[in-house]
Amino acid sequence: MIPIRRAQRQDMGALAHLVTQLGYPSDRDQIRRRINSLAPGQSAVLVATSGDNIVGFVHIAIKVNIQVEPSADVRGLIVDERERGSGVGRALMQAAEDWAIQHRCANVYVSTNVLRLGARSFYRQLGYEPVKESLVFSKRLPAERSGSNPHRR
Ligand SMILES: CC(C)(COP(=O)(O)OP(=O)(O)OC[C@H]1O[C@@H](n2cnc3c(N)ncnc32)[C@H](O)[C@@H]1OP(=O)(O)O)[C@@H](O)C(=O)NCCC(=O)NCCS
Repeated sequence: MIPIRRAQRQDMGALAHLVTQLGYPSDRDQIRRRINSLAPGQSAVLVATSGDNIVGFVHIAIKVNIQVEPSADVRGLIVDERERGSGVGRALMQAAEDWAIQHRCANVYVSTNVLRLGARSFYRQLGYEPVKESLVFSKRLPAERSGSNPHRR
């Protein structure tokens, strides 16, 4: 069995390494800050271990909006490239689904970049089916000037 547990304070460096491998260069302070900013009880960062090493993580979160009942959203998943193909990803997703069931979620959603062909096969292998295709838009925002936000009054 692959040991899975909640991420702890000492894991920030290993998580930064994995997040960087996923394509989002980050250091341990950035990871610590982002994890500290997560709403309590609304998500979990779970890590898979091998001995003293962290070999993968999944971030699962409750997805709340007014259109549908609560479901869960996989916000991030990666297995260290040296550890792939030995069941770590499957074990992380099982732990994420268990967390979602405990939090009364009826479905789990995951979005994956169309370029990640391996991930697509992986999710299908785990019983996930594509439900829609989306185009993600983004716009760079200017830095906030103090006193300029009317909602802060
Ligand atoms: C996708 C990823 C998490 C899979 O982790 P993993 O530990 O290698 O996967 P597992 O060994 O648990 O594989 C589980 C099943 O999926 C299949 N699978 C895994 N990767 C696959 C691939 N690239 N192509 C085809 N099938 C794959 C396995 O054959 C296995 O099937 P089986 O249990 O019936 O033999 C890992 O490859 C990864 O981190 N990729 C880079 C980051 C990424 O794409 N993350 C997802 C972003 S949404």
